[in-house]
Amino acid sequence: MNSNRLRSLPHLLLALLLTFAGAQQASAQDASAATVSKAGVTPGATAAATPATAAAPAAGGGDAAAVQAGDALFKANCAQCHAVNEQVVGPALAGISKRRPITWIIPWVHNSAKVVASGDEYAVALYNKFQKQQMPSFALSDKEITSIVAYITSEEGKSATATTGGVTAQNAGSADGQASAGTDAGTPSKAVDILLIALVVVLIVMVVTLVIIGNLMKDVLRGRKDLDGRDTEILEQRFDWGKFYRSPVLRGIVGTVVALVLLYEGVQSVMAVGLTQGYQPTQPIAFSHKLHAGEHQINCAYCHTSVYKGKSANIPSANICMNCHSQIKTESPEIKKIYRAIERKQPVQWVRVHNLPDLAYFNHSQHTQVAGLQCQTCHGPIQNMEVVYQYSALTMGWCINCHRETPLNTKGNAYYDKLVKLHDTKNASAPFTVSSNGGTECSKCHY
Ligand code: HEC
Ligand code: HEC
Ligand code: HEC
Ligand code: HEC
Ligand code: HEC
Ligand code: HEC
Repeated sequence: MNSNRLRSLPHLLLALLLTFAGAQQASAQDASAATVSKAGVTPGATAAATPATAAAPAAGGGDAAAVQAGDALFKANCAQCHAVNEQVVGPALAGISKRRPITWIIPWVHNSAKVVASGDEYAVALYNKFQKQQMPSFALSDKEITSIVAYITSEEGKSATATTGGVTAQNAGSADGQASAGTDAGTPSKAVDILLIALVVVLIVMVVTLVIIGNLMKDVLRGRKDLDGRDTEILEQRFDWGKFYRSPVLRGIVGTVVALVLLYEGVQSVMAVGLTQGYQPTQPIAFSHKLHAGEHQINCAYCHTSVYKGKSANIPSANICMNCHSQIKTESPEIKKIYRAIERKQPVQWVRVHNLPDLAYFNHSQHTQVAGLQCQTCHGPIQNMEVVYQYSALTMGWCINCHRETPLNTKGNAYYDKLVKLHDTKNASAPFTVSSNGGTECSKCHY
C-alpha cells in the first residue's frame, strides 16, 4: 500500500546514523538542561523530560497540598491559554512569582482589564504585546490564586512535555499517543527503530568484547615461556590487509551487494515515476479522520465546504476547527497548535496529499454532486484513516477506466434523452457510460 515505505530500505543505514546522532544530541542537551532550568529559560525543545530540579516553593507558601490544589485549578481555568514553560495563547508563566508580586497577580487574575485600564505600565505593555487579547476574569479566592502560583513555581524548568501529561507534543511527526489512541500510523516504525538501535548496540558490544578477549588471551600467551611453535605463530600473526583486499571472495561479495542495491534502486525509481499512490505525509497536527469523520460522524462537507459546489474540495481553515475546539479538548497539546496558528495569524501548514499535475482538469462537484459518486470510491476508507494517504493511483488510466465502466446517471435528465437514444440505436447492448458521452476525449481533461 505504501510504496514510499518500501523504498526506504537503502536509506535505513542513513536513518540509523542520524538516530544515533540525534540520541547523542539529546543526551548532551539533557546534561545542559540543569543549567538551563536554573536560569529559568524554557528547555522546551527536547522531548527528553529533564528531571525537574524542583525549584524552592514560592514565598507565598507552597506545601504539597497547595501545589496539588493549584495544579487542579490551573488545569481547569488557565491551561487553555497558558503553559508554565511555553508560550501558548498567553505568556509562559514560569518565573511569574519573581516577575510580579502576589499583590499584582491577584487583582490581575480577578480582572485584568481593570489593571490595564488603571494604567499599570507593566500590564499595558504586556497587553499590547499580546495583541490586546483580553484575559478573562476569574472569581477565584486569594488563596486559590496563591496556590496556582505555588503550582506554577513547582513546575518551573520542567520540560513542556512533562507539564502537559507526558505527551510528546513537540514533534508533530511522531504519531502522538494521545491524539490517536491505538493508532497504527507511526508507533510500529518507532518500535522497529528502537529494536534496530538495540541490535546495533548489542553487536558493537559483542565485537568490542571479542577484541578485548582476543588481546587478553594473546597477553596470557606472551607471559608464558614454554611456547611451542604453533603458539608463537599465532602471536606473530599479523593481519594481511593487502591480501584481504585482493581476495577474489571479498571482491565478489562487494560487487554483488553493490549491483543488487543499484538494481533495486533503479527498479524502484522507474516504478515510482509520477506515481504517488500510498503517499502518506506526516501532518503538522495529528488530525484524525477516523476520530472526526468515523467515530463522531462529522459530515465531510462540514469541513471540505466546497466539495459539492466547486472544483476543489477545500481544506478547512482553523476557524472551522474552532467551532468545536474552542470548547472541546482545549488542553490537548495538539489542539493548542490550532490556537497558536490563529494567534500568529498563520494558516496551519497541512501537507497536501493529492496533487494532479496542472495539465489535467478535475472537478469535484462534477463527480460528487452531478455523478453522485461517494468520496470513498476515489479516496478509500477515509473515515478509518488516522492519517490520510493517497488511496487511488490518480493516473490518466485510472480516470479513463472509470469513465469507460461507469454508466451515466441519465434518468430524469432531459439533456441526455436524445444522446441516449442515439447511443442505443448504434450500440444497444452496451450501457451509456461516461465515455459514451465523450468522457474519454482528450479535451475533456486537457485544455
Ligand atoms: C483565554 C485565555 C486566557 C486564560 C484562560 C487565562 N489567561 Fe492569563 N493571560 C492571557 C493573555 C492573552 C495574557 C497576556 C496579557 C494580555 O494580553 O492581557 C495573560 C497574562 C497573564 C499573566 C501575566 C503574565 C506575565 O508574564 O506577566 C498572568 C499572571 C496570568 N495571565 C495568569 C493567569 C491565570 C492564573 C489564569 C487561570 C486562572 C489565566 N491567566 C487564564 C490569556 C489567558
Ligand atoms: C473536522 C474536519 C474534517 C472532516 C469532518 C473531514 N475532513 Fe478531510 N481533511 C480535514 C483536514 C484538516 C485535512 C488536512 C489534513 C490531513 O490531510 O489530514 C483533510 C484532508 C483530507 C483529504 C486529503 C487532502 C489532500 O491533501 O489531498 C481527503 C481526501 C479528505 N480529507 C477527505 C475527507 C472525507 C472523504 C471526509 C468524510 C468522510 C472528510 N475528509 C472529513 C478535515 C476534515
Ligand atoms: C464538529 C466538531 C469538531 C470540529 C469542527 C473539529 N473537531 Fe477535532 N475533535 C472533536 C471531538 C468531538 C474530538 C474528540 C474529543 C475527545 O476525545 O474527547 C476531537 C478531537 C480532536 C483531536 C484530538 C485531541 C486529543 O488530544 O485527543 C485533534 C488533534 C483534533 N480534534 C483536531 C481538529 C482539527 C485540526 C480540526 C479542524 C480541521 C478539528 N479538530 C475540528 C470535534 C471537532
Ligand atoms: C472521482 C474521484 C473523486 C471523488 C468521488 C472525490 N474526490 Fe476528492 N479528489 C480527487 C482527486 C483526483 C483529487 C486531486 C485533485 C487535484 O489535485 O486537483 C482530489 C482531492 C481532494 C482533496 C484535496 C483538496 C483538493 O480539492 O484538491 C480533498 C479534501 C478531497 N478530495 C475531498 C473529497 C471529498 C470530501 C469527497 C466526497 C464528498 C471527494 N473528495 C470525492 C478525486 C475524487
Ligand atoms: C469512480 C469513477 C470516476 C473516476 C475515478 C473519475 N471520474 Fe470523471 N466522471 C465520472 C462520472 C460518473 C462522470 C459523469 C458526470 C456527469 O454525469 O456528468 C465523470 C465526468 C467527468 C468529466 C466531465 C465529462 C463530460 O462529459 O463533461 C471530467 C472532465 C472528468 N470526469 C474528469 C476526470 C478526471 C481528470 C479524473 C481523474 C483524475 C476522473 N474524472 C476520474 C466518474 C469518474
Ligand atoms: C478522464 C480524463 C482524461 C482524459 C480523457 C485524457 N487524459 Fe491525459 N491525463 C489525465 C490525467 C489525470 C493526467 C495526469 C496523470 C499523472 O499525473 O500521472 C494525464 C496526463 C496526460 C499526459 C502527460 C503524461 C505524463 O506522464 O505527464 C499526456 C501527454 C496526456 N495525458 C495526453 C492525453 C491524450 C492525448 C488524451 C486523449 C486521447 C488524454 N490525455 C485524455 C486525464 C485525462
